[in-house]
Amino acid sequence: MIIRPRRLRQSKTLREMVRETSLSARDFIYPLFVKHGRKLKDPIASMPGQYQFSVDTLVEEAVEAWDLGIPAVILFGLPDRKDAVGSRSYADDGIVQQAVSAVKARVVDMVVMTDVCLCEYTDHGHCGVIKEGKVDNDSTLELLARQAVSHARAGADFVAPSDMMDGRVAAIRMALDLAGFQDTGILAYAVKYASGFYGPFRDAADSAPQFGDRSSYQMDPANALEALKEAMLDMEEGADMIMVKPALAYLDIIRRVREECLLPLAAYSVSGEYAMVKAAQEKRWIEGERIMMEILLCIKRAGADLILTYFAKEAARLLSKN
Ligand code: PBG
Repeated sequence: MIIRPRRLRQSKTLREMVRETSLSARDFIYPLFVKHGRKLKDPIASMPGQYQFSVDTLVEEAVEAWDLGIPAVILFGLPDRKDAVGSRSYADDGIVQQAVSAVKARVVDMVVMTDVCLCEYTDHGHCGVIKEGKVDNDSTLELLARQAVSHARAGADFVAPSDMMDGRVAAIRMALDLAGFQDTGILAYAVKYASGFYGPFRDAADSAPQFGDRSSYQMDPANALEALKEAMLDMEEGADMIMVKPALAYLDIIRRVREECLLPLAAYSVSGEYAMVKAAQEKRWIEGERIMMEILLCIKRAGADLILTYFAKEAARLLSKN
């Protein structure tokens, strides 16, 4: 007698019955870029199908995503000016603050998240304040906390710190609570690697560091135990959800964090992951849609509960057809 695993693969119905992982539009968080101006929808060259929006067109995009069943967006801002401390990041009339209130006004039930970081707002492009040529941890915390509170004041449901400063989740939690925003959640970019996969994002958000790189604050791609340490710390500091980023080359990390941590886990399928698929698809070297769905499914199989992905709308559309 031979054991026949193929028996379970005989028909589509049977395969669907024994499928272990499912993908749905409800799993997606859709990243969007917003800048000052009106009626703008400027294509991002290295991310075909993604745009820099002005607030008005961004709201339309959020409505479209919501209508496709996508429950959440995460917003990234391109400020009108940059300075050494990223002061436009915590201005109440800042671009993200405007976008948050506009989206919340129009799509009341959508979960609106904001990226909390300084790199898009500083003239040097680093995620924290520079002191003596170094990214200074503790003086950055106060600015991040101010930014988070101003996002909450604008109506953000969740703030998502991506800076990788130590202690920022605790600092942000305390500042939110003191300001009366006990119900504003924190999605911590707990496990964020210093990755080449962020290349296209730095064009999209105009946030490339002007000197050096981010290795003194983002994680070494060689490390896995450290990922667990970062996840545990953010959980203890009060994060409501945590994230692993990037996703595709870090499926083992997603799995390990999922097994060790009790919080909902998000994975960020980043700009470079998107760009690689789009570029190969344009060359007709791969079946883009098929690979997109496979990547997203596999990120879930690895253990992610939620996926931040630029594919959100495209994948949601396909899912609703099938
Ligand atoms: C930093 C931030 C980055 C991304 C999200 N937040 C870039 C970086 O750390 O250099 C990358 C997202 C992507 O590549 O899609 N604020």
